[in-house]
Amino acid sequence: MPALRAQAAKSLRGSIRVPGDKSVSHRALMLGALAIGETRITGLLEGADVLATADAMRALGAEVTRHDDGDDGGVWTVAGRGIGALRAPTGVIDMGNAGTGVRLLMGLVATHPITCVFTGDASLSRRPMERVMGPLRAFGTRFTARDGGLLPITVEGATDPVPVAAEMTVASAQVKSAVLLAGLNTPGETSVIEHVATRDHTENMLRHFGAEVITEPLPDGGVSVRLTGQPELKAADILVPADISSAAFPLVAALLVPDSEVRIDAVGLNPLRAGLLETLIDMGADISIENRRIEGGEPVGDLVARTSALRGIDVPPARAASMIDEYPVLSVAAALATGTTRMTGIGELRVKESDRLAAMVDGLTACGVVVRSGEDWMEVDGLVAPPAGGAEIAVDLDHRIAMSFLVLGCVTANPVVIDDADAIGTSFPGFVELMNGLGAQIKETGT
Ligand code: S3P
Repeated sequence: MPALRAQAAKSLRGSIRVPGDKSVSHRALMLGALAIGETRITGLLEGADVLATADAMRALGAEVTRHDDGDDGGVWTVAGRGIGALRAPTGVIDMGNAGTGVRLLMGLVATHPITCVFTGDASLSRRPMERVMGPLRAFGTRFTARDGGLLPITVEGATDPVPVAAEMTVASAQVKSAVLLAGLNTPGETSVIEHVATRDHTENMLRHFGAEVITEPLPDGGVSVRLTGQPELKAADILVPADISSAAFPLVAALLVPDSEVRIDAVGLNPLRAGLLETLIDMGADISIENRRIEGGEPVGDLVARTSALRGIDVPPARAASMIDEYPVLSVAAALATGTTRMTGIGELRVKESDRLAAMVDGLTACGVVVRSGEDWMEVDGLVAPPAGGAEIAVDLDHRIAMSFLVLGCVTANPVVIDDADAIGTSFPGFVELMNGLGAQIKETGT
């Protein structure tokens, strides 16, 4: 568990590509395993979370192979088994830190006549799972969970699943996706109503594989999604866009470090994911989006970010779902914006890989930033001079907390230390090398 120290950088410059989208990568492996034929995936995120999903799909009977493709990393193929044909795993499936992985898989196996036991690391084992088990029980699935609805969890898939009309009580693409994936092996129509529209990668990819999925807007700004069960999914090639949630770290760093200009290529710009860009632009960020195009069915573009004088704003709560993973690094940007940035409607941050609201409040405060917070809101008073820094942050198995504080350390008066470099590998292998290649000063402590 090496510790890392980030100290102020003079300038960040260069052109980079960040790893593949985590949400899209999980779904590509899962739907590939349910399709007939061989699915070829280019740009898959090779982070620990997605590798756990690859192993899980193998345990469920799919053939998942990484083919070396020289310097550009791997191309992956998945030989699918067809809907309804997943095999019962012989051992416990350990999903590590992967919340998306385990919740989507619980949906996937919920309507297969098999029994699966899921477990995870200390972080995943404290995250709420009742939000997925509740709607899945309606299919006829049975669960045995640790007290409090926590992992480890045994899923006994329904043998005669009945279709479900689910209404979301939390804004969660993971819960929506779990229901839709369970609907795949269920005769008839499964539907989901969500009052807040969340990322729609599952719906898009299901259509890409040939399923019938109908999405209709609701008057309250939400959406209704309907899936016809038991389609034949046909193998399809997938090009995974670069992850906007990973791009967020070098992007914010480039805005904050003096004399910087960073280009990030082929970043996924799905509107249900791009709330951070809108917010930073509202704060006065100099970000341009070039070469907008569609790649692999998702909108992508090249982002160019330059050093900017940011001002604090009220971030609209309606935007929360479209940037839910970006609030930690946004709060770092807010620490260097003139005036106060108010973030409301962000209670979901408390049940991520860590309690991210508390982690940001505590860490920013330890670095000399004035922060106020409540159950589902946070306010950051920006500083004109660089924040003091000088704190050691316990990242508590949370990759995005680790990277957010390393970005903060790029601009503080004194270095910022994070206690666990390994956490970053969940979503962003190569983060430190990539940042240092731009001019950041991030090193293992003691070196
Ligand atoms: C994800 C949905 C979000 C997000 C997570 C990925 C997905 O979680 O925070 O990193 O791929 O569906 P919730 O569904 O809990 O909001």
